[in-house]
Amino acid sequence: MKDPRSFNPFDLAEAHDMWDVAAELRREAPVVHLTNGFVFAGRYEPARQVLLDSETFMAKGGFRADGRYVPMEDRNIGELDPPEHGPIRQLARSGAGGPGVAESLRPFVRQHAERLLDSLMENGGGDLITGFGLALTNLVIAQLLGVPLEHSPRLARWTEEVVSANTTGGPKDSAGGRAESFPEFIEYVDGLIRARLSADDAAHDAITRIVQSGIEDADLPIPIIRMILVNLLLGGTATTRDTIGNLLHELIVRPELHERLRSDRGRVPAAVEESLRLAPPVLFLLRTTAKETALAGVSLAAGERVLVAIASANRDVQAYPAPDTFSLDRVDPLPHLSFGHGAHLCVGAALSRMEVQEALDVFLDRIAPGELALAADFELAHVPVPFLFGPQSVDVLLTKEKPNVR
Ligand code: HEM
Repeated sequence: MKDPRSFNPFDLAEAHDMWDVAAELRREAPVVHLTNGFVFAGRYEPARQVLLDSETFMAKGGFRADGRYVPMEDRNIGELDPPEHGPIRQLARSGAGGPGVAESLRPFVRQHAERLLDSLMENGGGDLITGFGLALTNLVIAQLLGVPLEHSPRLARWTEEVVSANTTGGPKDSAGGRAESFPEFIEYVDGLIRARLSADDAAHDAITRIVQSGIEDADLPIPIIRMILVNLLLGGTATTRDTIGNLLHELIVRPELHERLRSDRGRVPAAVEESLRLAPPVLFLLRTTAKETALAGVSLAAGERVLVAIASANRDVQAYPAPDTFSLDRVDPLPHLSFGHGAHLCVGAALSRMEVQEALDVFLDRIAPGELALAADFELAHVPVPFLFGPQSVDVLLTKEKPNVR
């Protein structure tokens, strides 16, 4: 076997099939220096510790190559440190809205999940990602932001382009920032903001909540509102799509799990958490040491890049008995790290949990085990984006003419 310390998280094939290597590294030590210089924090406790201690383990730089200047309004909130991070995060939390907003969106999510899945079934099957998971996620984020729903495909296309430039540093991510690289997108978002700011009525959308929680006695600059909206779009779209894809694929290949959930709907939230734990849409986070320190007894110099391996920490046997098993019966499990932890904990967790729960419940309502099969030529392939984990497509065929709709 190849030396596990040569693991390269930026190699798509290695990252998406990291399970055995991660297990080896966890066995070797709580924290391991990889041959490429990264520090692999692959056990639960050290990974959690890194995320909790944001002073020692800075978010600065995130996934970007070193030494590149990025204007504030183009940054990801996840790469900010104090003092900028706190106030910006507060705006993002207001925009995302927390559990109250998530609950208020539940009927919307349900209605669209039913419509999308029914339409897929009427066609005898199709891709559960484009036709269901992604389409649903795009509608929900549009509704959250107050975007007309008919614009949601366009917004989704732009989001994908920006995510791709963000993570690959591709040709479109130019020195002139997003306004230069994606002029139509930025003009569209700014137009939304201007329209909302000049409207007489307050709407129940993210822009209104951001403006209302903004800087006291001063108008929030449009680029900052734009920054928050773009972060909600970038943070909330692919991740939720991937969770729906990972979970539904698991159900299709595991009929006994499908059956158990269908007859025990109380377990739907547990299934969503277990899917997030075992197949986290964000596989890794990156942090940089601000000073010399020690992590789980291993000395680290200032400026070391720490790879917080969420996907590995979530399978640490010291945190989860039988860690590789998808179990609906875990009693008070430790919180998985798939939404991060500490100062940067995901602001959209309540929204995405609700969304995936509804998508799953609608799927269970409509489809029994065996009524849907993976297409004969289907081969599981993951989205070709480093650090993200979800199926590119889940092509299914109805094996029964009319599934039982409960
Ligand atoms: C299953 C779905 C999701 C997953 C797995 C996920 C995962 C994460 C993770 C791991 C972080 C922490 C980043 C870090 O520590 O550097 C994060 C932060 C964030 N997420 Fe999510 N996310 C999801 C859904 C959403 C949604 C729906 C939204 C928006 C509506 C969102 C917006 C954000 C934002 C703005 C941050 C930055 C928070 C900060 O740095 O203070 N996410 N997310």
